[in-house]
Amino acid sequence: MTAKELVFSGVQPTGNLHLGNYLGAIVNFVKLQDTHDCIYCVVDLHAITMWQDPAELTKATREVAAAFIAAGIDPRTHIVFNQSQVSAHAELAWVFNCVARLGWLNRMTQFKEKAGKDRENASVGLYAYPSLMAADILVYRATHVPVGEDQKQHLELTRDIAQKFNNDFGDQIRAQGVDSGLFFPMPEPLITGPATRVMSLRDGTKKMSKSDPSDYSRINLSDDADAIAQKVRKAKTDPEPLPSEEKGLETRPEADNLVGIYAALSGRAKADVLREFGGGQFSNFKSSLVDLAVDKLGPIGAEMKRLTADPGYVDGVLSDGAARARVLADATVNAVKDIVGFVRAK
Ligand code: TYM
Repeated sequence: MTAKELVFSGVQPTGNLHLGNYLGAIVNFVKLQDTHDCIYCVVDLHAITMWQDPAELTKATREVAAAFIAAGIDPRTHIVFNQSQVSAHAELAWVFNCVARLGWLNRMTQFKEKAGKDRENASVGLYAYPSLMAADILVYRATHVPVGEDQKQHLELTRDIAQKFNNDFGDQIRAQGVDSGLFFPMPEPLITGPATRVMSLRDGTKKMSKSDPSDYSRINLSDDADAIAQKVRKAKTDPEPLPSEEKGLETRPEADNLVGIYAALSGRAKADVLREFGGGQFSNFKSSLVDLAVDKLGPIGAEMKRLTADPGYVDGVLSDGAARARVLADATVNAVKDIVGFVRAK
């Protein structure tokens, strides 16, 4: 690891953590621990951009923290905390609201999807969501951000904000002793693995999502073996046998999705999975997928249950992580205040 490389990522505590969150993001969080300093955040400020029942929000915050730990993130070597405990995120987000342009935010597809037709009734927070996300990353001057495919556009915006801040305040940044003028780095998205976009089990053209009304569309990390088996068996497929090569998946989104899930869970390439199962019927492949999914996810679900039964422990992890995060984040915000010209006690 070079000393300057730092990983940051976040997950919203909005209920129903699913296989997409796990394979698209959390699996990569776990891997990066070996090579980088990592900060993983439960983004509760982002969660309230849509209405959340307060008691459910508390529960979901602990559940995401428990999922991080159960999946193998070590909160002592790295940092795990919830966003609202480190006020520097919100402070920097305000500065970024004044750096980002309306035109940039107007292009955000996630806002359009989430606001839907009733745009006038969406919260201002939902609209400004990407500047808070930029603040999450840049308040640590993180260089690498593991995410699923759906966050790519937000990462591009983060880079635009970093660049505009560096340009707008170039002289002041240099006056602070940063000769390059690059106060904020350009963070790189890490969108890797065979499951960067896990699709719904009911419709291979739709993303697997927390908000899909059908529970059969997703495998939740809290699902037990029976639920996993039922959902995989009922997953939509087509009548053809599995192809032997990857290009045979191109026009078959449901088959492609299940093969991608198998590959990601087993740590193999899709081509390799098809060499084993190509030409065979879906029913056999699905049985193997059930065994694999239960084998990999079962222990995580059980550990999440054990951890969430002890909220005192989880809250302790979050407040300890927040204390360590605060030291780093406050240093950046103080420097930003000086750069922008805010008067502060020194
Ligand atoms: P969120 O909470 O919606 O999702 C958490 C992570 O899971 C990934 N993901 C998926 N990956 C593959 N297939 C899917 N079907 C799927 N669904 C979700 C997401 O891409 C994400 O990596 N805005 C972020 C949270 C956030 C954040 C940040 C992330 C806030 N601040 C700073 C990185 C850095 C979000 O809503 O993720």
